[in-house]
Amino acid sequence: MTDTLSIKDNRTGKTYEIPIQDDSIRAMDLRQIKVSDSDFGMMSYDPAYLNTASCRSSITFIDGEKGILRYRGYPIEELAEKCEYLEVAYLLIHGELPNKNQYEEWKHNITYHTMVHENVKKLLEEFRYDAHPMGMLISAIAALSTFYPDVKNIFDENSRRLQIYRLIGKMPTLAAYAYRHSQGMAYVYPNNDLEYAENFLTMMYKPPASSNYKANPVLSKALDVLFVLHADHEQNASTSAMRGVGSTHADPFSSAAAATAALYGPLHGGANEEVVRMLEEIGSKDKVPEIIRQVKEKKRLLMGFGHRVYRNYDPRARIVKKIADEVFAVTGRNKLLDIALELEKVALSDEYFISKHLYPNVDFYSGLIYQAMGFPMDIFPVLFAIPRMSGWLAQWQEMLADSEQKISRPRQIYTGYPERHLDSTPRQ
Ligand code: ACO
Repeated sequence: MTDTLSIKDNRTGKTYEIPIQDDSIRAMDLRQIKVSDSDFGMMSYDPAYLNTASCRSSITFIDGEKGILRYRGYPIEELAEKCEYLEVAYLLIHGELPNKNQYEEWKHNITYHTMVHENVKKLLEEFRYDAHPMGMLISAIAALSTFYPDVKNIFDENSRRLQIYRLIGKMPTLAAYAYRHSQGMAYVYPNNDLEYAENFLTMMYKPPASSNYKANPVLSKALDVLFVLHADHEQNASTSAMRGVGSTHADPFSSAAAATAALYGPLHGGANEEVVRMLEEIGSKDKVPEIIRQVKEKKRLLMGFGHRVYRNYDPRARIVKKIADEVFAVTGRNKLLDIALELEKVALSDEYFISKHLYPNVDFYSGLIYQAMGFPMDIFPVLFAIPRMSGWLAQWQEMLADSEQKISRPRQIYTGYPERHLDSTPRQ
């Protein structure tokens, strides 16, 4: 067997042998296929990158047909059960799990960078009382790049490491500040004696006048597991934004602000918010058949269903469903759960969803947990952005180290006017 693809161009009768590597051909190898010497050469056309690999990556593996997700080779189920989020963040960024000393040092360095400059606090204070926290988060991450001139030294390993500590360390602080602003509550400074998720919950919920607030350990643990599940997901829209902006050699704060903006959209990180809104709108189990009918008539999407790569149950959704039980045991059952379960049951037995391989994704149940934990809906995508920062940074570093990468710049097929001239175009 030869690892090549023979392509016959019927326009010219010529045949080309294109090398195959990793079940792929290089799009640039198509360029030699021309009808004449002056021809630009053939391109591949792939709107929304349905079948185009933009990089080689050793970080996250997904088999969408089988419903498999692994970080650096470890199944997500094992990581969710046995590792803390910060261990997983280390794994994503360094390629291996930390030993005890490495982990202590890593945690220390991240914790050391949880504070933000007082001017960032002032910046956040200037937002309107009802500003969406994602808009505030995007702005704050971008603004932070101006506080550290060294962020531009992206090819200096020590500088990169420092920016990684800063970005992972400050995400919960920025997120909690954005929330407290929307509540008109005084900001709570980070407490470096607390674990990552526990510290975040404390900054979110500690009443200003109380000194003895203690986050519920079951809820801290549940949030930490949710952070593990959301840490990376290979070349999704926000990661592609991180890599795309990073490929211009922009600093990591600016690139991460762009990635956060991509995550804001309702088809990506905004979906968990949309799921809860949809369930609230449905209101009761008996309305489920009507919603399914509307979805099948393409009048609406079933939010929290479907995925670009999973054609099977999203493995993260299974774990989230399990965490939901633990959380509801503390918070009381979210009344929307019954509607969600009914929706899932009806959808999974309906030919429309079966034939299109539409299964619940990670967002279908995560919003219900967040709601039960007292998070307002606006903050849901922020809860996704906090842990995804480690994945974005791992991917960004990998991109910078990849000698094949250049500034990210797709081609287009031009469909506009041929050349025309102002003199021959009537103007009103
Ligand atoms: N509800 C109803 N129909 C759907 C849904 C859905 N949620 N998702 C896909 N479909 C249908 C499409 O209409 C399409 O039908 P067609 O073949 O008749 O045209 C078919 O299934 C294939 O779907 P595509 O839109 O081609 O799938 P794509 O890979 O482009 O989109 C996406 C994936 C954006 C996630 C989509 O499934 C969707 O919009 N889901 C709802 C939003 C959501 O839950 N997003 C979270 C994603 S997970 C994450 O970001 C963490």
